[in-house]
Amino acid sequence: MSARSFLFAGGDTGPWRIAETKAIIGAPLPAAARLAIASGPALPSDPHASWILRGMTSNERYVVREEDRRQLVASQPALGRPEASCGALITIRKNAAWWALTQEQRQNVFERQSGHAALGLRHFPALARRLHHCRDLSENEPFDFITWFEFAPADEAAFDTLLAALRATAEWAYVEREVDIRLVREEL
Ligand code: HEM
Repeated sequence: MSARSFLFAGGDTGPWRIAETKAIIGAPLPAAARLAIASGPALPSDPHASWILRGMTSNERYVVREEDRRQLVASQPALGRPEASCGALITIRKNAAWWALTQEQRQNVFERQSGHAALGLRHFPALARRLHHCRDLSENEPFDFITWFEFAPADEAAFDTLLAALRATAEWAYVEREVDIRLVREEL
């Protein structure tokens, strides 16, 4: 069984060098030089880390049609491709108004008003990604979602175009904190 719990530690260790950290909206994260990612039931804790974030992969909330799921699975490459040496860790917290919506209303904003998955597939069909949920771990997690992406250096511009398109959607009006961390994988 593959692990569902992930830990992201910003500090002095890890194979990913942090190239840039930008607070898009809301409070930033403390500065760190490298990122270590761990997974599994017994996650290590690093007393020297500047920050530690935890999340879990989960079932899908908004992909409801079998056909859409098939399309997503067919177009998504695996993480860890050697040529995908760029990483992006984007942490997101949505506001109380988002969480006060019903599931059906959120689905409407996510899919019909914002076309989130369709935008992703149109701008960047071959983006390796993993979505982690934080909200159910405890009451005081700093973010609701930790999103992780891997791509080749030549595709960074396409990734930025996709992000600009997503940030202009109705869904992003509910984002109250977002930190965008760009990384480069260096084999240690
Ligand atoms: C190829 C590009 C992308 C595709 C195909 C894609 C697709 C999806 C899908 C299908 C979901 C819903 C999963 C579910 O049913 O629960 C989702 C959720 C999410 N995605 Fe993307 N995405 C892409 C890129 C991005 C990017 C660049 C970001 C930027 C940060 C992002 C942030 C999120 C967040 C925060 C959620 C959780 C939304 C929520 O549950 O409220 N995605 N994505």
